[in-house]
Amino acid sequence: MLECIPERKYLKDYSKPSHVIKSLDLCFELDDRRTIVTSKMELIQNLDLTEKNDTLVLNGENIELLWVEVNGEKLSEEQYQVDEKTLTIPRLPESFTLRIQNTNDPVGNTQLDGLYKSGSIFCSQNEPQGFRRITYFLDRPDVMTKYRTKIIASKEYPVLLSNGNPIGHGDLEDGRHWVEWEDPFLKPSYLFAIVAGDLGSIRDRFTTRSGREIDLRIYCDKGNEERCWHAMDSLKKSMKWDEEVFGLEYDLDIFMIVAVDSFNMGAMENKGLNIFNTSCILADPKTATDMNYARVETVVAHEYFHNWTGNRVTCRDWFQLTLKEGLTVFRDQEFSSDMHSRPVKRIEDVLSLRGRQFPEDAGPNSHPIQPDSYIQINNFYTATVYEKGAEIIRMIQTLLGAKNFRKGIDKYFELYDGQAVTTEDFVYAMEAASGIDLSHFRSWYHQSGTPEVHVHPSYDTDSKKYTLKIMQNTPITADQEEKEPLHIPLCMGFLDEKGKELRMKHPDLHKNDYGYLLSLKKAEESFVFEGLSAEPTLSLNRHFLAPIKVHMPYSKADRMFLMANDSDPFNRWESGQRLATELMMDLLDMRQSGQTLMVHPGYLEAYEALLTDEKLDKALKAVALHLPSEGELMQQRPFIDVEGIHHVREFLSKELARHFQRDFESIYSAERNEGTYEFDAKHMAQRSLKNTCLSYLVRTEQPAYRELAYQQYQSADNMTDQYAALVCLSHLTSSETDQALEDFYHRWHQDKLVLCKWLSVQAMSRAPGVLERITKLMQDPAYDEKIPNLVRALLGSFIQNHAQFHVNTGSGYVFMADQIIHLDAVNPQVAARLTAGFEKYAKLDTIRQQAMERELQRIVNTQGLSTNVFEIASNCLKSRG
Ligand code: TRP
Ligand code: ZN
Repeated sequence: MLECIPERKYLKDYSKPSHVIKSLDLCFELDDRRTIVTSKMELIQNLDLTEKNDTLVLNGENIELLWVEVNGEKLSEEQYQVDEKTLTIPRLPESFTLRIQNTNDPVGNTQLDGLYKSGSIFCSQNEPQGFRRITYFLDRPDVMTKYRTKIIASKEYPVLLSNGNPIGHGDLEDGRHWVEWEDPFLKPSYLFAIVAGDLGSIRDRFTTRSGREIDLRIYCDKGNEERCWHAMDSLKKSMKWDEEVFGLEYDLDIFMIVAVDSFNMGAMENKGLNIFNTSCILADPKTATDMNYARVETVVAHEYFHNWTGNRVTCRDWFQLTLKEGLTVFRDQEFSSDMHSRPVKRIEDVLSLRGRQFPEDAGPNSHPIQPDSYIQINNFYTATVYEKGAEIIRMIQTLLGAKNFRKGIDKYFELYDGQAVTTEDFVYAMEAASGIDLSHFRSWYHQSGTPEVHVHPSYDTDSKKYTLKIMQNTPITADQEEKEPLHIPLCMGFLDEKGKELRMKHPDLHKNDYGYLLSLKKAEESFVFEGLSAEPTLSLNRHFLAPIKVHMPYSKADRMFLMANDSDPFNRWESGQRLATELMMDLLDMRQSGQTLMVHPGYLEAYEALLTDEKLDKALKAVALHLPSEGELMQQRPFIDVEGIHHVREFLSKELARHFQRDFESIYSAERNEGTYEFDAKHMAQRSLKNTCLSYLVRTEQPAYRELAYQQYQSADNMTDQYAALVCLSHLTSSETDQALEDFYHRWHQDKLVLCKWLSVQAMSRAPGVLERITKLMQDPAYDEKIPNLVRALLGSFIQNHAQFHVNTGSGYVFMADQIIHLDAVNPQVAARLTAGFEKYAKLDTIRQQAMERELQRIVNTQGLSTNVFEIASNCLKSRG
């Protein structure tokens, strides 16, 4: 164990900062191992406080203090105290000028938090608490000030960037040069950024709706400039969309993005100077898949949208993280829906929510979107805070209606622009603008867990009364023992026997774009509808407007009926997924009781109807042909049968492949498009459908299809098709597999982003021997544990490969624990993400539990373990009741 249990921070302990910082002047003298930072601040004691405090406690970690000066006088060492985490200066006047000089070590900073080097680029990452690793400061988001930043560097670094506008530059006598930047907006330290490098760039302009000209720039490593245009295009679309949909205009004259290889997350919204992982910027047809293109588009939009939701209005403290993240994810989801197909985007988002957030909420690290305590804030950049957070915003929009929601957003900016606020302030603005009471709804911010809603319909032929008894409950989670009923907007449709939508009249029902809305508020309630001549078929939780699990006693025939007739495209897809899930659960029962597996003929009929539906949108068809993932199946029962689930899903996939071989083949040929690559809805849908068919064909294990995949691999002129073929081959043990993998490496090993694909395809393979292969791949000269993208591609993918990571010998767990312990010393944020691979602990069988427990113990007992890994691993250990 750690010598002492790390300290836990509580939301209820919030208190205002002791001082106001009127302005900040920074000067950086960049150096690989000893960068010198000089800061000058004007401070005033915070007069709002009840107790006056003449002591200033600044945060500072991993930096070396050189000197401190108050009002022009150097302090002697008795006049202040420094320790590992703070610089304390007592007996200060009410207002004063503070100057501090310290050093830091960018090259030694492999945590990628604070000022560091990515390849030959100096860059910074300050959210949430990286600024204290740059210089001593009140490093909390409610301390906002104006920044002036001077950067001095050798001319090996011609481009020197920071937030805001450049206000001066020049040469020094010693051969170095300098640039000075000024940001006119107040901002918290987590939005500060600095970049220096010999960078390539592309430029464009955007004219805002009020006629201002914005200078747009994307910087990258030289040679990658041409791969930045899709990001530039996405940026301009985002700027236009935010003006049109939210009435929000960009506020500085210059907007810059810098792409770096080494980055802990996707991207960061620093004011006027976003810093991105190259994986979320670079895209061209030859090296990026359709999925990569779409990701670049959403992440560019997300970070741009933060300029208003995050930067102009920011968070009071880090417990409020979902204030900016949930809202901004909601905004980027809406943007992508408007750019592409709304139903397909919704399906993708729900797949991600159910694939990542539901397990998180049901596991040892469950927390509400607004946690009330944490050990390590970096562990709370989660699917819950981001994606469930976005669902909460979506529900507010559903409850208020689009018009009122937009008024609420306007109110939010009217009340809080330039301030650091709370989620309560956001909800208040929504209420104030709409007049709608959200007092009950607020529990969503504080209660964790996925609510389960049970719907019991009954129809009385004599009275023609149709009654819906609806019950809700939220299962107890690792972090909370008591749960209250929530305010849930349940959107639904009523279909007659021909599949026609019934018009309903009922005081509790409100109409919206997707159907009728019912507000659930109690653990159990009933709704009675009169005058229906026959029992309707219900289409529940349309467009997945509430992040819940719905249970309803549907027959297989009902599911098939909805699959074919529902007017809500999301629910057509959902019905097929539910049907497949139930079928695989039946197969699992058969397997567990020793029966031979057999596919229900009704399912094959439904699948065929889908496959041969000529009217169905191709993108939607492609997603509907996919079976629910193993991860999704694992959530169906309280205990996980790892092998059983893998086996039945493999079995059904192969059955489908065999049974519909001809159909898959004909669709594959029909969708084969020989034209040049285009990133548009039509072509993406074609590629997606075609490649889905290819994957089924290859599953038949017939040599002809293996050759077909190999041929597609060889002849593809774009990465989407090339990679899809490689994925198909990667699951086989064949000479084509070996050849394609070898060829891919030779073509692409110099490109780190494409190398990630090569690593993850091997880590996710269903063929035997993955662990041995991974061990070998880690020795590859192109592999670099200091680049999180590469680590995630190899080790992060392996965790997703359930059958192999959870192999019952426990070798997957031993291996992963070794890696976590090793990587923790390099980059604790990356190590902590990998530790989440142990979150299924309490739901596994005894053999696997014992194997996991040994490894979790070994992890928490490691000397010098980070709080990041400690928090996740110790939660896992605690989860077996
Ligand atoms: N605010 C970033 C976002 O847009 C998140 C982020 C980027 C981040 N880099 C980080 C969070 C490093 C923690 C650590 O979502
Ligand atoms: Zn964000």
